Amino acid sequence: MIKVLGICGSPRKGNSQYLLEKALEAAQKAAPGEVETELYSIRGKKFAPCISCFKCGDQQGECILKDDFQELREKWVEAGVVIYSVPVYHMGIPAQLKAFLDRLGNSLFGRYAELFDGEAKLPRSLKVIASIAQGAHLFSGQEHTITDLINHALIMGCVPVTGDMWEAYIGAGAWTYNEVGRNVLAENEENGSLDTRVALRGAESIGRRAAELALILKAGGLANANRFSGEPVYQPFLRRIQG
Ligand SMILES: Cc1cc2nc3c(=O)[nH]c(=O)nc-3n(C[C@H](O)[C@H](O)[C@H](O)COP(=O)(O)O)c2cc1C
Repeated sequence: MIKVLGICGSPRKGNSQYLLEKALEAAQKAAPGEVETELYSIRGKKFAPCISCFKCGDQQGECILKDDFQELREKWVEAGVVIYSVPVYHMGIPAQLKAFLDRLGNSLFGRYAELFDGEAKLPRSLKVIASIAQGAHLFSGQEHTITDLINHALIMGCVPVTGDMWEAYIGAGAWTYNEVGRNVLAENEENGSLDTRVALRGAESIGRRAAELALILKAGGLANANRFSGEPVYQPFLRRIQG
C-alpha cells in the first residue's frame, strides 16, 4: 500500500485544503486498492521553531521541543508520497510549515546517524513530493513557494514530481482574484473561472502522477532490492516498500 500524505499548510480550512482534497482524490483514483490517502492540516497545530540546540543529533533524532511536530514527523516518515498544499505567505511558505520542515531535516540526521556511522547524512528516502501553492494575487510567489518545497524535497533525498502540461509546470498553482475569503476557489469553480479550472486540473494531475510515480519507484525498488540491500542510503526506502 502506498501512503499518500497530504499536508495542508494553511491555518484555516480554505483554498489550500480545497485543492489538496482534489489532489488526494485523484491519487486515490490512480490506483484503487493500492493507495491510501490522509489529509493532515496544520490548522490548530503548534510547531515551535527550531532553537538550534542540536540535541536531536545525540538522541536518535528526538526533538526536545514537544508539540505537534512528533505526530507529523512520523506520518511524513511513513508516507510514500507527500503532497503539500500551501497558501503563499509573503512570497514563501507559511511559518508553521517552515518550522516543521526545519525540525524535520535536523531530527532525521539524528534518527539515521546509526546508518552512517554517526555522520550527519540523510538517506535517499525516495518519497514522491508534489507541491501546490495558491495566493491572493497573480505573479505573487506561487512559483517561489513551490521552488522552496522542491528544494526541500531534494535535500531530503526525495523525488519531486509535477502534474501534466500545460496546467502544471513545476507544481499546481492558483490565485484568488485579490479576494482573501477561504472559499474563493470553490466559488470560482462554480462560476466557471478558467484560472480556477486550470488550478483544479493541475492539482488533479499532480495527485495522479505522484501516486503513479510512487508505484513505479516501489516496483523498481523491489526488483532491485538485492542490489541495494548493502547500501545504507537506501535502507529506509527499502524497509518502507517491503512493508
Ligand atoms: C500573512 C499573509 C501573507 C500573505 N502573502 C501573500 C503573498 O505573498 N502573495 C499572495 O498572492 N498572497 C498572499 N497572501 C494571501 C493568501 O495566500 C491567500 O489569501 C490564500 O488564498 C490563502 O489560502 P487559504 O485559504 O488556504 O488559507 C497572504 C496572506 C497572509 C495571511
